[in-house]
Amino acid sequence: MDSRLHDRFGSAAPELGLPDDLPFVERVLRRRTHRRYANRPVPSALIEMLCCAALSASSKSDFQQASILTVADPARRAALAAPFPAMPWIGTAPNFLVFLGDTRRLERLGELRGHPATNRGLEGFFNAAVDAALALQTFILSAESAGLGCCPISVLRNQAKLVADVLALPDGVFPVAGLCVGWPADAGHISMRLPPGLTLHRDTYDDAALADDIARYDAEREARNPTPPEKQRAPERFGTAAAYGWSEDKARQSAQGEGAAFPPWLRACGFTFD
Ligand SMILES: Cc1cc2nc3c(=O)[nH]c(=O)nc-3n(C[C@H](O)[C@H](O)[C@H](O)COP(=O)(O)O)c2cc1C
Repeated sequence: MDSRLHDRFGSAAPELGLPDDLPFVERVLRRRTHRRYANRPVPSALIEMLCCAALSASSKSDFQQASILTVADPARRAALAAPFPAMPWIGTAPNFLVFLGDTRRLERLGELRGHPATNRGLEGFFNAAVDAALALQTFILSAESAGLGCCPISVLRNQAKLVADVLALPDGVFPVAGLCVGWPADAGHISMRLPPGLTLHRDTYDDAALADDIARYDAEREARNPTPPEKQRAPERFGTAAAYGWSEDKARQSAQGEGAAFPPWLRACGFTFD
């Protein structure tokens, strides 16, 4: 059994028989989100270096539509954290950054060069969001390679207007996610991923075995990290399930919905999604 893959995928891990000479890949396989941090500052030069690494991520058409905003001002940090008391790490992490999709820069270039064009249709929005996401994950992997721990924060989008006010975001610049950064306070744990049989397809898409695959995944994940009954999501709406697992939790989360305020805020900023 290949423990590098087993820790991530459990019994569904493929047997690939590869030698132990892929240190970067092994680091990625063992990566994890950290939400608790040691009370030790992160050198600002290191954060800036990691931002430079993040901005080295691939970029659609070389449009370079990601921007990163580092938030050091305690008042702004507190204002961003206030709506989310259930996630105290937003306010307490040693460093906090916001990864932005930036459709504005290309529009400004158009004006500068005398070829004005809107960049707020679906294509512009999607390209900018993808660029920001690639920069986010590139920052995370780079930070983890330096021994830091990170936690992306997409709940910020539920308060996009507040975020834009606090950070003085102009129209066309939107938050994709915040990011908590610090030295991890504990080892954390590897979060099991779905079996590759369900997420890795060959030649054609095939999810015929979904129900069985998910049942096995739920059981194995619960065996590793059981969900106590009091941690079941929204029992007042969904009841208390005898057998609870990842799929029940994610189905409940998805049914509750999130992010209703984001599209109207984006439209108010001029995004048409046409
Ligand atoms: C785009 C994105 C947004 C996220 N937003 C939040 C968030 O708002 N709050 C939080 O605590 N974790 C957030 N996370 C962390 C995920 O919950 C975490 O990545 C997931 O549970 C898998 O765990 P792992 O990264 O340790 O494998 C986010 C992750 C991503 C990629």
